[in-house]
Amino acid sequence: MPSLLIKNIQQLVGVREQSPLLRGVALAQLPVIHNAWLLIEDDTIAAFGSMDDLDTTHHHTVTTYVHDAAGACVLPAWCDSHTHLVFAASREEEFVYKIKGMSYAEIAAKGGGILNSARKLHDASEDDLFNKAWKRLEEVSHLGTASIEIKSGYGLTVEGELKMLRVIKKLKQRSALDIKATFLGAHTYPVEYKENHEGYIQSIINDMLPVIARENLADYIDVFCEEGFFSPEETERICRAGMQHGLKPKIHANQLNLSGGTQVGVKLGAISVDHLETMDEDAIQTLAQSNTIGTLLPTAAFFLRMPFQPARALIDAGCAIALATDFNPGSSPSGNMNLMLAMSCIQMKMLPEEAINAATLNGAHAMELGHQTGSITIGKKANLILTKPIPSLAYLPYAFGSNLVDKVMIKGAWL
Ligand code: NIG
Ligand code: FE
Repeated sequence: MPSLLIKNIQQLVGVREQSPLLRGVALAQLPVIHNAWLLIEDDTIAAFGSMDDLDTTHHHTVTTYVHDAAGACVLPAWCDSHTHLVFAASREEEFVYKIKGMSYAEIAAKGGGILNSARKLHDASEDDLFNKAWKRLEEVSHLGTASIEIKSGYGLTVEGELKMLRVIKKLKQRSALDIKATFLGAHTYPVEYKENHEGYIQSIINDMLPVIARENLADYIDVFCEEGFFSPEETERICRAGMQHGLKPKIHANQLNLSGGTQVGVKLGAISVDHLETMDEDAIQTLAQSNTIGTLLPTAAFFLRMPFQPARALIDAGCAIALATDFNPGSSPSGNMNLMLAMSCIQMKMLPEEAINAATLNGAHAMELGHQTGSITIGKKANLILTKPIPSLAYLPYAFGSNLVDKVMIKGAWL
């Protein structure tokens, strides 16, 4: 079995025996070993410890390879639990319209927004979509992401949604990254069903879900629960239909309005409710008293020039928080978890330790991968970020915009 010893690690970050979902004060606890070594066997974390003790262990004598970290830090690779990374084309023309003063709603009314992406996806071949998504996966993996959730939702027809989900399935089969697939047929109402919402819901439930279940194309079901999109009642109905096919809900909630999405998500036992820009006391308390994770997407708030998610209020109330990029062409054209981390600390006043935990272990939990990744734990996959030389961990979110990721390891192999 090939093994690799990484030695002289300035800080080995996120070292844990257990992998609990972190909330409240526990989110700020990020265990580290200073001046550490780490042993990887095959694709798995096998042992670690302090350099002071390395000579008394015999690991190094049986090690195939040795890498000298020369004072760099090692972190668990990022777990990005919310993306829309499969799409046909970017939408920078809408970005410019917005700079000139047009609103999101005005752009959507002109056939922009999600419907613009749906038109472009309709014309794209499966191979083209796959190749573009593959490039984006390569980009984000070099930025430190080793586990990622990807949604459909730009198809909005039986054929289009299945095309997206088949692309995600092929990515799963060919990529070293852990990938989870989420069916988001209920992203918006397509033009053909503008006056017939019931008809589209029927199509999701009767035409899409049975094929998705039969071909094992999704792990989760998502609904954009928002004024002007899907109501809490519609969200519940669509999620329950998905649940009957074994898909657990992970839903878009409370982005633009107090949509009731958080409460519906908690009621359904959703894995996560995501976005949460717009929260009141009832939504916060409901989430805090549940096992549903609140996934915050600060780069989406940033890009749409919206108030950031109330991270402090959520953490202090005891909600379990994850952080993700929302990588998509309309509201977050970046899948850079490092930039997202900086924004969480700068704009939402999360401590660097809280942000790192939320982007690793809690993100892993938001994809039900908490048992296999998200921390430096014996037996977990060797998914690692090796940083460039940095003075301290807080330097990572502080020096925003610098690429401080030197090397990335996914399942025991350096990229
Ligand atoms: O997560 N909020 C809904 N969906 C996406 C944006 C979709 C788009 O504009 O393409 C989001 O922000
Ligand atoms: Fe999203």
